[in-house]
Amino acid sequence: MGLLDGKTGLIVGIANDRSYAWHIARAIIDHGGRCAFTHLPGEKNERRTRRAVDDLGVKDPWLFPLDAADDGQINAAFEAYARSFDQMHFMVHSIAFADREWLQAGKFVLTPRQAYLGAIDISAYTLLAMARGARDLMARSGGGSIMAMSYYGAEKVVPGYNVMGVAKAALECTGRYLAAELGADRIRVNLISGGYLRTLASSAVGGTDTMSDRVAERAPLRRNVEGSDVGSTAVYLASDLSSGVTGETIYVDCGVNIIGG
Ligand SMILES: NC(=O)c1ccc[n+]([C@@H]2O[C@H](COP(=O)([O-])OP(=O)(O)OC[C@H]3O[C@@H](n4cnc5c(N)ncnc54)[C@H](O)[C@@H]3O)[C@@H](O)[C@H]2O)c1
Repeated sequence: MGLLDGKTGLIVGIANDRSYAWHIARAIIDHGGRCAFTHLPGEKNERRTRRAVDDLGVKDPWLFPLDAADDGQINAAFEAYARSFDQMHFMVHSIAFADREWLQAGKFVLTPRQAYLGAIDISAYTLLAMARGARDLMARSGGGSIMAMSYYGAEKVVPGYNVMGVAKAALECTGRYLAAELGADRIRVNLISGGYLRTLASSAVGGTDTMSDRVAERAPLRRNVEGSDVGSTAVYLASDLSSGVTGETIYVDCGVNIIGG
């Protein structure tokens, strides 16, 4: 018996097999869950995501194009999901974007309005828009679990993280307001604040070359986080083991967030 037997949901954010979303899907599938996926539109993006989904061993995957900047595409993805599956028990939001030009130490003050608003749009507003798409499906399923990926830079200044830190603070707060409203439908909303993992998104942040070494030195567990650490927490959040947990930000970072100085 798997913890997630009989549970079905949507994973948004697999770019390749290093993506946090890939590790989350891996763990959910290992525990008996069934996953549907989206990819960024475009042939190359689709090919890349499809290859990563193939590596998960999913036969004939449900894979739908979604640029979360476009409300029409969000609606289309949830409508298509609803035509293929009658239930949604979990949804994983693992997407973020900011123009890398402004993710350099010392450049925060120069961030143009459009870059600032764009980062918050893709990295935070989309959680709200996707939760709206998931709401009826989850309510019909007797409740559900929504989770999104955050980072410590939401709370403390991490040089170079800049406007992404602002966007992650908005994302965490969005999660709390959603949790408060959607709880009546037995929908839980939680954030996982993941440690540094080398991915396409994290390599856009300036100054991360030495991040792994610094974390391994300072973290209570004396190591960097692995994708599977976050995957296990996602299984907990998708499962009934976390039935009383909502509106939380759970750190999965080998403890590095507790260290000061
Ligand atoms: N890697 C880290 O160190 C780290 C740490 C904490 C939190 N996170 C967060 O984890 C999440 C996943 O990032 P990752 O590190 O796995 O990198 P990644 O590059 O593998 O994933 C980012 C995903 O965002 C998607 N995306 C970007 N713009 C989009 C749009 N307009 N519409 C739909 N999808 C879009 C990309 O296609 C990609 O799949 C992000 O929210 C990121 O901020 C990452």
